[in-house]
Amino acid sequence: MTPTATTAATAMAEPPAHAPDGSRCPYLVVRDPDAVRDVLHRPADFSPANALVAVTALEGPALRALQRVGFALPPVLASNDTGTHGGIRRVVAGFFTPATVAAMEPRIRELAREAAAKAAEQLARNGHADLVQAVAAVPPAVVMLELLGLPVRDLADLKRWGLESMELFWGWPSPERQLQLASSAAEFYVWLRRLVAESVAAPGRNLFKSLAGHGLSRTEMCSLGYFLLIAGQETTTQLISTTLFRLLEGAAPVCWKDAASEAGAKSVVWHVLASESSVPTWRRVTDHETILSGARIPAGTEILLELSGNRITAAADQASTSPHEQAGRGPSTGLVFGSGIHRCLGAKLAELEAAIIVQETAAALPGIQLRDHESEWIRLLSFQAPRTVSVVSPAG
Ligand code: HEM
Repeated sequence: MTPTATTAATAMAEPPAHAPDGSRCPYLVVRDPDAVRDVLHRPADFSPANALVAVTALEGPALRALQRVGFALPPVLASNDTGTHGGIRRVVAGFFTPATVAAMEPRIRELAREAAAKAAEQLARNGHADLVQAVAAVPPAVVMLELLGLPVRDLADLKRWGLESMELFWGWPSPERQLQLASSAAEFYVWLRRLVAESVAAPGRNLFKSLAGHGLSRTEMCSLGYFLLIAGQETTTQLISTTLFRLLEGAAPVCWKDAASEAGAKSVVWHVLASESSVPTWRRVTDHETILSGARIPAGTEILLELSGNRITAAADQASTSPHEQAGRGPSTGLVFGSGIHRCLGAKLAELEAAIIVQETAAALPGIQLRDHESEWIRLLSFQAPRTVSVVSPAG
């Protein structure tokens, strides 16, 4: 008979330190890279249907705030486990082909240089600057909107909505905070519905026109837009933020000066992806009883896959495996963008953007130092990064 659930490859997650009620995390954690890959390559057994389910169940007032605006997230892309996924994915992939992404490089460099120059001005004027706001936040959002053929507007709102929706769906907000976050998500959704309506009638090629041509309903397009407009830029902002922070802290294998070269910047971005990516975990749920690494997993088991280093899955592992077992493993960069039929469509873009922005920032701001080593971090189930990277000029 096959043993149930917990083996060296899987472990029940301990609650994250900041889960308010101290309750057990209801996930079966899978850390072993071979087992993670196996799960990702068996979508019929391990469904992505829970990818966008709120980690903290939505309570009445928050639900009502969302219902009032007709908020709905029908499965279209990341959480779609039906046969319609492939066709929809192809439409979206058409906006991020390798050739399109490569052709975007000069534009990314231009935006990165502009942002780095502004940060240098801020430093000269005030003696300090926050590199998250100054260089990491905006360029990925502009690049994503331009690639999708969508108007570049309301960027400050878009950034705020993205972070607040991440907290609503991947965090542990109190009921009061949940209501605030739901109101923000509702505002984002209303904005999105207008954008969809406007885009399908606009001249030229854009994401929503192509999706409408593929037969998606307005609600399905809003659902896709809700995920993509967050996933397509905030994750990259967060990767850049962590990379800049670790570089300036002196905790990366590359120094700040060497990060100003193309090779140095690329290698430090890869180091951060492997050690503490902005998307360190992702979820799946068993469609029916199945076997993983020799263990029987009951139907409906919620699974948390470790893609990169993070606190939550690390804590789960310490609770269940010996140091000897842990030593043989370690996050592999091969999984940081997922694998199989749902693999991230923005992987190449994210890597390119992160490397260019890190390179241009290091080149434009020689000798800067961290002002605050104890930065507050975004620590959600599937997202992590410092909220600020506050720096001072060499003389500051
Ligand atoms: C550092 C930045 C990023 C990281 C770490 C990241 C990571 C991930 C991960 C782990 C998944 C789930 C994969 C799976 O289920 O196998 C995913 C899915 C996805 N990502 Fe990213 N992502 C990043 C940036 C982007 C960008 C820039 C875009 C688009 C411009 C993007 C678009 C998508 C899409 C569309 C999916 C769903 C694909 C599908 O279900 O078929 N991501 N991403």
